[in-house]
Amino acid sequence: MNESHTDQNAKVIWFTGLSGAGKTTLASELAKHLKTCSYSCLVLDGDQARSGLCADLGFSEVDRNENIRRISEVAKLAVSNNIFVAVACISPRTKYRELAKSIVGKEFFIEIYVNTPLSVCEFRDPKGLYKKARTGEINEFTGISSPYEPPHSADLEIDTNDVNYEENIAKILKLLL
Ligand code: ADX
Repeated sequence: MNESHTDQNAKVIWFTGLSGAGKTTLASELAKHLKTCSYSCLVLDGDQARSGLCADLGFSEVDRNENIRRISEVAKLAVSNNIFVAVACISPRTKYRELAKSIVGKEFFIEIYVNTPLSVCEFRDPKGLYKKARTGEINEFTGISSPYEPPHSADLEIDTNDVNYEENIAKILKLLL
């Protein structure tokens, strides 16, 4: 690692938004850019967490809360070791995001609302989950049969529908560095 970045002033960049909004792509792109500049960055993605760390959890209110608590605790460990963390997690309720912020510490927490409209996410439907949610094959699906509360005071709001990724990443880096 570049010596000049050992005081890297790490932050947790928390991407919230619907499934298919583009959170994971943004988080991965951000990590790639940070690494190019010799900063360490961990990506914590909801789908990945749910395949291991949170494999015992479903999508009830209680389970989502626990999912976010665990992801936040991991993010806290990383940031306390001065590692940037890019979290891509629906975190659909204000109270979950407040929990995340309180665990991580507000001075280290940057909230980014990936505001891609439901119609666009549903059209993309990369995992075919919206279709299943519409036919009732999947219950409690965020945006369809479970609520998403949009943030009102996110540090940054991004619509991946009409701006390209390079511009979005540049906006985020401006906030960070
Ligand atoms: S969160 O609500 O607890 O923050 P998280 O980001 O970890 O969700 O996981 C969301 C991912 O799980 C989605 O991108 C999707 O691939 C998958 N998924 C499966 N079932 C559901 C559901 N009922 N609601 C939302 N996402 C679901």
